[in-house]
Amino acid sequence: MYHYGVIGLGTRIAHIVNLTQKQSLNNFKLAAVADLKPKEAFGHIWPESIQDAVNEAVFYTDAQEMLEKEHLDGVFIGTRCSTHARLARLVMDKGIPLFLEKPVCTNMEDWIMLRRGYEQSNGRTVVSFPLRVSGIVRRVKEIVDSGKLGRIEHVQALNYVPYGGTYFNNWYRNEEETGGLFLQKATHDFDYINYILGTSPVSVAAMGSKQIFKGNEPAGLKCVDCQKYLECPESPLVRKGEHDPNSNRMCCFATDTGNHDSASALVRYETGMHVGYTQNFFARKKAQKRGAIFSGYEGTLEFDFYKSEIRIFQHLMDVEETIRFEEGGGHFGGDESLVNEFINLISKGEPPTATLRDGLVSALMCLQARESEQRGTFCKIEFDAY
Ligand SMILES: NC(=O)c1ccc[n+]([C@@H]2O[C@H](COP(=O)([O-])OP(=O)(O)OC[C@H]3O[C@@H](n4cnc5c(N)ncnc54)[C@H](O)[C@@H]3O)[C@@H](O)[C@H]2O)c1
Repeated sequence: MYHYGVIGLGTRIAHIVNLTQKQSLNNFKLAAVADLKPKEAFGHIWPESIQDAVNEAVFYTDAQEMLEKEHLDGVFIGTRCSTHARLARLVMDKGIPLFLEKPVCTNMEDWIMLRRGYEQSNGRTVVSFPLRVSGIVRRVKEIVDSGKLGRIEHVQALNYVPYGGTYFNNWYRNEEETGGLFLQKATHDFDYINYILGTSPVSVAAMGSKQIFKGNEPAGLKCVDCQKYLECPESPLVRKGEHDPNSNRMCCFATDTGNHDSASALVRYETGMHVGYTQNFFARKKAQKRGAIFSGYEGTLEFDFYKSEIRIFQHLMDVEETIRFEEGGGHFGGDESLVNEFINLISKGEPPTATLRDGLVSALMCLQARESEQRGTFCKIEFDAY
């Protein structure tokens, strides 16, 4: 029996713990939890199926104390973004296998601190990049690696987020906490693109806009307290017919609504090729799109997570192929794969697909994209310069 701990048992990690309990065939025990809130404060957010496991776990309010008192075979970190790097170092420095939520950090100072710990982390960290380990991305990588398209010389990637309101009406609207939407969203897309390409990014130029989710409503305004509650297109009542008088949903059109609502980045890679990436947070319903077009001299491949489909077009022959996936599960099947990787890392010492180095490279791309967005200049991506 392996004993694991959790730091920050919120919405995301409760889901991952649920998968761990199921996929480890009860060979993994949730031994301890460190969370600022006591157990009673948030039980309702946990799936029913993990309630017994949680009841048996020892609770701490301080992660360091948990790490000192418990003998843990692995630790999941699922706190909010700004705390990831500091907590990760606590776990890594004890040599315990780590499952780390993304983004791995939210600023350059923390990036450097993690980068310094990375050398001795010995490949014992899984970074929570479900897209990289989803079935569709693995298949795209196989096709690209087969050489069927020739070497990839251009990529165009899109992320039209149909649930984009989330980033303007709850805690994700606070850029101090998340580091902004390149770190929050693009970190996944940059990572799966790096994985498929198998080459390193060297510079980035980015631009962001805030055209929709901004306005003059007062800072701190909640939807339920707003005079426009009955007519505003972003009110949960108008959008979904849902009314919860205790809802903490914040106004998307207030002076303190953070985050760009669309942004693009151009990334140069070491081979000389480049990737264009765009994210959009006001697309809705069937406008949803997440995927990319990879082109080499011999062919082009395009795929979309939402359609669960890969299409391949040969440039030198009249050949077109379509591959369809039946993929359920969280993040297009990626969450289940991530959990398997962590179970295998702990129980068999198998190296994960999404490593701390990958998390650091992707975070550096996002930090430099944010820098470029703010300064209007190209920024270098130099993993070994720090
Ligand atoms: N990989 C993915 O696809 C994916 C999907 C969703 C969310 N996430 C990430 O998961 C993280 C958590 O998101 P969430 O929605 O679960 O948040 P949440 O607020 O529901 O959970 C965070 C938990 O951490 C606890 N906490 C905060 N600071 C702490 C500390 N110093 N020590 C111990 N506990 C602490 C909070 O009390 C809370 O229970 C975010 O960083 C988010 O980016 C990743």
